[in-house]
Amino acid sequence: HHVEYLNYEVLDDHGWELSDEDLFEKAADAYLDDEDYGELRVEDNQSLLEAAEDDGHAWPFACRGGACTNCAVAVVEGEMPTPTNHILPQEMLDRGIRLSCISAPVSDEAKIVFNVKYLPGVNELLL
Ligand code: FES
Repeated sequence: HHVEYLNYEVLDDHGWELSDEDLFEKAADAYLDDEDYGELRVEDNQSLLEAAEDDGHAWPFACRGGACTNCAVAVVEGEMPTPTNHILPQEMLDRGIRLSCISAPVSDEAKIVFNVKYLPGVNELLL
């Protein structure tokens, strides 16, 4: 599975919103560091967090078991189902928020904003 990733932290710097339709187009044109924007592959037996780590990234995490929200990401495009046992409320799931330590994309392509633990609604769940 092919994932295009973007760091939530850079949105503010550029005045972008998570809901911007052309968010990833803008990111692609912004000469961002590989740390903040790029592409990676997720193998079938990996979580998104593991795939990012294998690719040399240090994405946030703490429990690695779905019990905090340090590893939260926002799925902008693609399918990323989540196991039943985790801390995220339905409202967050409806907004495309997922936990990268316990989930991975099932679609061939996905666009994912990582590092959304400070997003309102997610930050209250941080442990
Ligand atoms: Fe705690 Fe993923 S690291 S939920």
